[in-house]
Amino acid sequence: MTSVKSICCIGAGYVGGPTMAVIAKKCPHIKVTVVDMNEARIAAWNDPDTENIPVYEPGLSDVVAEARGRNLFFSTEVDDAIRDAEMIFISVNTPTKTYGSGKGMGADLKYIELCARQIARVSTTDKIIVEKSTLPVRTAEVLRDILQNVGNGVKFQILSNPEFLAEGTAVEDLFSPDRVLIGGDYTDEGLKAIESLVEVYANWIPRERILTTNVWSSELSKLVANAFLAQRISSINAISELCEKTEADINEVARAIGTDSRIGSKFLKASVGFGGSCFQKDILNLVYISRSFGLKEVADYWEQVIIMNDHQKRRFALNIVRNLYNTVSGKKIAFLGWAFKKDTNDTRESAAIYVADLLLNEQAVVKVYDPKVEPKQVYADLDYLETRQPAANANGVACYEDPYEACKDTHAIAVLTEWDEFKTYDWQRIYDNMLKPAKIFDGRNILNAAELKAIGFQVRSIGVTN
Ligand code: NAD
Ligand code: UDX
Repeated sequence: MTSVKSICCIGAGYVGGPTMAVIAKKCPHIKVTVVDMNEARIAAWNDPDTENIPVYEPGLSDVVAEARGRNLFFSTEVDDAIRDAEMIFISVNTPTKTYGSGKGMGADLKYIELCARQIARVSTTDKIIVEKSTLPVRTAEVLRDILQNVGNGVKFQILSNPEFLAEGTAVEDLFSPDRVLIGGDYTDEGLKAIESLVEVYANWIPRERILTTNVWSSELSKLVANAFLAQRISSINAISELCEKTEADINEVARAIGTDSRIGSKFLKASVGFGGSCFQKDILNLVYISRSFGLKEVADYWEQVIIMNDHQKRRFALNIVRNLYNTVSGKKIAFLGWAFKKDTNDTRESAAIYVADLLLNEQAVVKVYDPKVEPKQVYADLDYLETRQPAANANGVACYEDPYEACKDTHAIAVLTEWDEFKTYDWQRIYDNMLKPAKIFDGRNILNAAELKAIGFQVRSIGVTN
C-alpha cells in the first residue's frame, strides 16, 4: 500500500465541501482539491471572507480558513484535479429521477456517470475512486464498467465510503463520527485500496471506528441507515396523531419509550415531518430497488415511511386551516423557519415548503422569517413545485429579516424549523402586535406552551392536546 498524498473531490456541495475541508485540516500532508462545474459555488468557497462560503454549518468557516490555500483548494479545473490525484472522491448529487423510467422513485445517476466518463477520459495514472455520494446498491458495477471500457489502460479500484454526517452538525460529525464505513473488493488490489483510505481517516479517527465491508454491503448500508432513521420519525409522528385524540402527550411517550436502552432516545422528536435532501430520496430509492427485484412487500413496507411523512405535513397544514375557522383566505400566517432543520441554510424537501403550498392553495398570505435562508430560495422552492405561477407565489409570500415584522398583524404563527432563537423571543411583544385570538402552531414542540398560554396565545403543538 502507498500512502495517498493527493486527493480530488468532484462536487463541492453540502457533503464534498465540509468533508474535504475536514480531511484537509486533519491531514496537512495531503493536498485536497475540491472541484465543481458550478462556477458561482466555487467562487463562494474561495471568498476571502470565509463567513461567505456557500454552506452554512457551525464551525465550518474556521476549518476552511485554517486549511484553504495551505492544502485545501477549490477549483473549476476538473480535468487537472483528476489528473493530479491518486484518490478521487465522487460527491455529486444523486437526486430522485424526474423523467422516464423510475421517475419519482429511482436515483438519477447521470452526474455519477458523467464523472466516471470524465475520470476515464483524462486519467493517465492508476487511481482509487471513492463513492462518497449515496448510491443504489451495485452502482460500483456501473462505474467499473465505464472506467474499464472507456479508459486508456489505467487501473482503477472502486471503494464505497458513504457519508453519515447530518447537516447542522456536519463539522462535529466529521471530527468524531460514530463510524466510518469503507467497502471494497476483497482482492489483493481491493484490500490495498481499502487500506489506503483507512490510513487517511486514521489520522484522526480511532481504527476500531473504521469499518470495512464488501462494496455492496457498504452501498446498501447507507440507504438502510437513512431508512431506519426516517422510520423512527414516521413512527413517532404516527403516534403523535393518536396522542392528539387520547390526551397522551407525545413528549412523555417519547421519553418513556426512549429510556428503554433497546429503543434509545434519539430521533424520537415528533415534528411537522422530516425534510432534507436525503431521507425521502434514499427511501424512494430503496423502494424502487426492492420493487425492481419483485419484492413487493419489502417495497410497500418502506414506502409507508414516506406516506406517513406526507400525511404529517398535510395534517399540520389542515390543522391550521381548521383552527382558523375553516378559512385562511386573505389571512396572514407567519412562518418561523424555512430550513429543513436548524443550523443549516439548506431548504431541500423542507416541510415548510409543502405546508406553505397547501396554505397558498387556501389563499392565505404567508410571511416568512428564517435566520439563514435567502428570500430568493423561498420563492425558488415554491416555484419548483409548479403548483401556481411564480407571480402568484410572489404575491402570496413575503419574506422578512425581522421576526417581529414577520409576525405583525398575523392571525397565526407556525413554527416550521427548530431554530434556538425562537425560544428567546419577546413573545408578549409578538402577541401585542397580532390579531386576536392569536394562535401558534408549534410544528417542532420547542416553545413553552404554558408561558405562551399565560400571555393569551392559543397554542397547538404536535402530539399534545393543549
Ligand atoms: P449538492 O447538490 O449540495 O452538491 C453536489 C455538487 O456536485 C453540486 O455543486 C454540483 O454542481 C456538483 N456536480 C454535479 N455533477 C458534477 C460534475 N459532473 N462535475 C463537477 N461537479 C458536479 O449535494 P450534497 O448534498 O453535497 O449531496 C451529494 C451526495 O452526498 C448525494 O448523493 C447525497 O445523497 C449524499 N449525502 C448527502 C448528505 C447531506 O446531508 N446533504 C449526507 C450524506 C450523503
Ligand atoms: C440525514 C442523516 O441523519 C445523516 O446521517 C445522513 O448522512 C444524511 O441524512 P440530515 O437530513 O442532514 O441527515 O438531518 P437529520 O438530522 O437526519 O434530520 C432530517 C430531518 O428529520 C429534519 O427535517 C429533522 O428536523 C427531522 N427530524 C429529525 C425529526 O423530525 N425528528 C427527529 O427526531 C430527528
